[in-house]
Amino acid sequence: CGKQEAKPAKVLKVGSEAAFAPFEFQDESTKEYVGFDIDLIKAIGKQMGAEVQIQNMGFDGLIPGLEANSIDLAISGMTITEERAKKVSFSKPYYKSGLTMVVKSDNTSIKSFKDLEGKKIAVQLGTTGADEAKKVKDAQIREFNSAPEAFLELKAGGVDAVVNDKPVNEYYIAKTGGNDAKMVGEPLTAEDYGIAASGKNKELIAQVDKAIEELKKNGEYEKIYVKWFGK
Ligand code: ARG
Repeated sequence: CGKQEAKPAKVLKVGSEAAFAPFEFQDESTKEYVGFDIDLIKAIGKQMGAEVQIQNMGFDGLIPGLEANSIDLAISGMTITEERAKKVSFSKPYYKSGLTMVVKSDNTSIKSFKDLEGKKIAVQLGTTGADEAKKVKDAQIREFNSAPEAFLELKAGGVDAVVNDKPVNEYYIAKTGGNDAKMVGEPLTAEDYGIAASGKNKELIAQVDKAIEELKKNGEYEKIYVKWFGK
């Protein structure tokens, strides 16, 4: 019999600060949200039988958004930290990252984290990069709403360095052909990204974890990884 039950799709409202390529950003021509995180959360939604709706918002608004229940989940290259885990529940780690420094291509004086002392550093507001930069002695920290704005400030000569997530720095440098900036020094930190839900929503996070596990088993995670990062 051809009758089909019209089952209303579950909707997952997912917050993200979508200026963080290659994890989440807007395709220049289609204006759609694309990236590793976007593909991953869509695949997770599919596993869960839910429709994913991306809400672009400030990075520092994601945790308050989860706490206020205006979004169900956040995926945003967000590092799992102890501080944040007091407020939200995190999925199991889904991506290994860490912070590095970016300076202008022609800079020869900054080679290590130590060389940032007394310098001007641009970071994105509310990030682990901002936390790390604040530990540098006598440094002047300039906080921007997005990573691209921090990179622009470096290009304009307003700061000496940007402290930000390594894969995002690499993407930026590759995209600009290495003409504007370069990455220097060893990674400052090792960080794990996690998907976040409200602290009360342990059940939802359990479902997300289960979906990720499934995507790792069936090769879908690998496909998405290779699409954005190569092998
Ligand atoms: N991993 C860093 C953190 O969690 C930076 C994340 C920034 N993400 C973004 N979509 N702008 O603090």
